Amino acid sequence: PFEVELRRTGRVVTVTPDVSVLDAVRSVGVDVLSSCEQGTCGTCLTPVLEGSPDHRDSILADHERVANTCMFPCVSRSLDDRLVLDL
Ligand code: FES
Repeated sequence: PFEVELRRTGRVVTVTPDVSVLDAVRSVGVDVLSSCEQGTCGTCLTPVLEGSPDHRDSILADHERVANTCMFPCVSRSLDDRLVLDL
């Protein structure tokens, strides 16, 4: 498990292996638009403020993956204990 901090909302949510970051964020009442939920459409694009996403989408180019400035929470996860999102 890892924690996701929603800096604008001021909430921290724990993401267990059986849920997506998207579902975890929604569980505390923050809505993020989504469509495919498979990491292919780009609808759920979310800005990352701190941390290292474990990118599992098929959208970002390599240089965008290492930049760690955005992620697709329907499929991507975290390499660190805490990920801070601009939500
Ligand atoms: Fe399509 Fe996340 S909903 S990439």
